[in-house]
Amino acid sequence: MPKLIVVNRAGEESTVEAASGLTVMEAIRDNGFDELLALCGGCCSCATCHVHVDPAFVDKLPAMSEDEDDLLDSSDDRDESSRLSCQIPFTDDLDGLKVTIAKED
Ligand code: FES
Repeated sequence: MPKLIVVNRAGEESTVEAASGLTVMEAIRDNGFDELLALCGGCCSCATCHVHVDPAFVDKLPAMSEDEDDLLDSSDDRDESSRLSCQIPFTDDLDGLKVTIAKED
């Protein structure tokens, strides 16, 4: 199973394994990180699954939709590494992906 590195809001880094086929949001949530609220359940309407993605992986991620872009605009913590984790399918190709849970808005 591919590995995902998650940095929580306290700056602590954990490595988790998650089945390929989940989204990055599901992989984080299913491993017990309750800081990631993911309130809408992954239908791209809440922005509470906001993460910062390691720049080394940016080229491997699917393009951002207009909806995702608009939602991220509502976050004060947005930067060039911001993505909504529910919009990133977690694949073998993303093995070793490192994401940092964004600050709460
Ligand atoms: S879980 Fe709501 S936008 Fe990702």
